[in-house]
Amino acid sequence: MNAQNKWNFDTVIDRINTDSIKWDSAFLKEYFKGEDLLPLWVADMDFQSPQPVIDALVKRAKHGIFGYCAESSEDYLNTVISWFNRRYGWSIEKDWIIYSPGVVPACNYIYQRFSQPGDKIIIQEPVYYPFARGITANGRIVESNQLQLENNYYTINFTELEKQLKDPLSKIFVLCSPHNPVGRVWKKEELKQIGDLCLENEVLVIADEIHCDLIYPGFKHIPFASLSNDFAQNSIKTSSGTKTFNLAGLHYSNAIIPNEKLREDFKAQCTINAATIPNVFGGLALQVAYDQCEDWLEALIDYIVENFKYLQDYISDKLPDISIIPPEGTYLAWMDFRDYKLEGKKLQKKLIEAKVALDSGYIFGAGGDGFERINIGCPRETLHEALVRISNAVKDF
Ligand SMILES: Cc1ncc(COP(=O)(O)O)c(C=O)c1O
Repeated sequence: MNAQNKWNFDTVIDRINTDSIKWDSAFLKEYFKGEDLLPLWVADMDFQSPQPVIDALVKRAKHGIFGYCAESSEDYLNTVISWFNRRYGWSIEKDWIIYSPGVVPACNYIYQRFSQPGDKIIIQEPVYYPFARGITANGRIVESNQLQLENNYYTINFTELEKQLKDPLSKIFVLCSPHNPVGRVWKKEELKQIGDLCLENEVLVIADEIHCDLIYPGFKHIPFASLSNDFAQNSIKTSSGTKTFNLAGLHYSNAIIPNEKLREDFKAQCTINAATIPNVFGGLALQVAYDQCEDWLEALIDYIVENFKYLQDYISDKLPDISIIPPEGTYLAWMDFRDYKLEGKKLQKKLIEAKVALDSGYIFGAGGDGFERINIGCPRETLHEALVRISNAVKDF
C-alpha cells in the first residue's frame, strides 16, 4: 500500500453543518451571494487531520474538563525545536517560541507595537488579503511592492522596494514565504537581498512562513531568520501547523523571536490584547502532528502535487485560454483568466452562477485583477467537479 492510499486523501467528507466558514457559513452565502456553491476558496483543506491528532484530541475531549490552559510545556517546546531542526536545519531556542492565537493576530500585534498610526507597512501584492485589512484597520498605510510577472513567473521589484524601504515612514516589511497566492518559494539570494535592504533601512521584517511545510519537489524553503544572526535579530517569524495539518479552527500559532527586546515587546502586546492563554486543543494537536505525522505530510504533498498536475492537464486540454502559475509551494494555485478580458467582479459573478466559489484575484490587491485563486487541498473528485463548473462558467466568453 503506498502512503497516499494509507491516508486516503480521495475520500470526500461532507462538511455541511460543521460550522465551516468554507462550506456552510452565513458569510459564504452573503459574500458570494449564491447557494449550493462548491467552495475552493478559503485556505483550509477538505482532508481529515492525521489520525494520531484526532485520537489525541478525542482522548483529551473525553477528560471532559476544559479549564484554562497552562503555558507551553517543555515537551511541547522541544517538539517545535526539533521540527525546525529536522526539516530546515535551523536551531531555535525555547525562549524564542511565543504562543499567539494565530498568524493574523500576531501580525496585527506587531503592527500595533512596532509602528505608529500613519506609518507605512510594505506588503508584496497580489498577496494574502488579511495583511492589508489588518494594516488599515490599525490605522497604518499599506505600501505595495507589487510583484512582477513575466513568462508566468513572479519576481520582486527590488528597485522599487529599495525606494519604499528608504521612506522614513516605512517601519515594517511583511515577507510572505512561501508566497500566497503566487506560490513562490523564495530563493536564498532573494531573501538575502530583502534582509540586507531591511537592515540597512532599519525596517523590521515579519516573516510569515505559515505555508513553509508545503513545498513542491525540487524547491526548498529557507527560514528567513536562519540566513544570518543579523536577520534573526531584525525579524519575527510567524508560524503554525494549521496549514500543514489542517488545524486552522484550533487557533494556535507560534511567533519565533530571537531578539530579546522584540520578544518582550511582542509579549507585552499579546498581554494588551489578552491573547496569552491558549486553547487546550491547539498546542496538543500541533505537538502530536509534529511528533508523529511527518509521513502523513509527505503523502499529503504527493497528493497535492498530483492534484496540481490534474488541474494543469485539465486546463491545457479543455480551457487553454486560462494559464496557471506553476506553484512551488502551498496548496493554492493562481489561475490567470486575463485572456477573457473580463473585469474581476464580472468574472466572479460568472463563476458563482456556475456554482463554484474561488477567491477572486482583485481582493489580493494590486496586480490581482483577472486572476482567481483555487484551493487544491481537496479530494480529486471535488477538484474535478470544480473544473467542470469553471468550464461551464467560461463557455460563452
Ligand atoms: C500567508 C498566510 N498567513 C496567515 C494565514 C492565516 O493564519 P491564522 O489562521 O493563523 O491567522 C494564512 C491563511 O490562509 C495565510 O495564507
